Amino acid sequence: MKFFVDTAEVDQIAELNDLGMVDGVTTNPSLIMKSGRDIIEVTKEIAEMVDGPVSAEVVALEADAMIEEGRKLAKIADNIAVKVPLTWAGLKACNVLSNEGNMVNVTLCFSANQALLAAKAGATFISPFIGRLDDINLDGMELISDIRQIYDNYGYDTQILAASIRSVNHAYQAAMIGSDVMTAPPAVIKKMAEHPLTDAGLDAFMKDWAKTGQKIV
Ligand code: E4P
Repeated sequence: MKFFVDTAEVDQIAELNDLGMVDGVTTNPSLIMKSGRDIIEVTKEIAEMVDGPVSAEVVALEADAMIEEGRKLAKIADNIAVKVPLTWAGLKACNVLSNEGNMVNVTLCFSANQALLAAKAGATFISPFIGRLDDINLDGMELISDIRQIYDNYGYDTQILAASIRSVNHAYQAAMIGSDVMTAPPAVIKKMAEHPLTDAGLDAFMKDWAKTGQKIV
């Protein structure tokens, strides 16, 4: 499963990128707002840093305006994926931008039918929002599973990008279902390394090692 980092904080992306953990980056208007940076400048900086797709989201609501914004965002770098919302206008923009050779990430997906439409419109990525479905007591993972089955049934090559990942359990479940990609905040990716038995085992090894009085270097 590919790991995208869900942030516009350049330092946090760099830390994970240096470890080889970053297959791409996703941003959205809220993440740009939190970064306090100019969208064009920060997106360019991120796209120069990472090799994989960097999603930059349009903010227009009409198809023609989305297409215009998408073309501008796509010009920032070759690895930009233009992010459009899953509305009828967004699907139109997806179709045009995709036919022009751009990667398109269709975001704010909350149903399998929406995901089916995005695939037909030529989306490179579909972003079902797991956490936001869980927030309203619906099963986000069931949606990932349904989209996986539908895409496999018909051979769509749109990649499932599990988004709104809030916990290590979300990451685990998305991987088990066969999501192509997950996008998660840096803190969730780092937390995946943690296990209490790892900590306890390391503590015991360190105590025993101290008793030997030895050094390796
Ligand atoms: C990614 O593309 C989404 O914008 C992001 O994962 C949303 O996450 P949130 O629901 O935690 O804001």
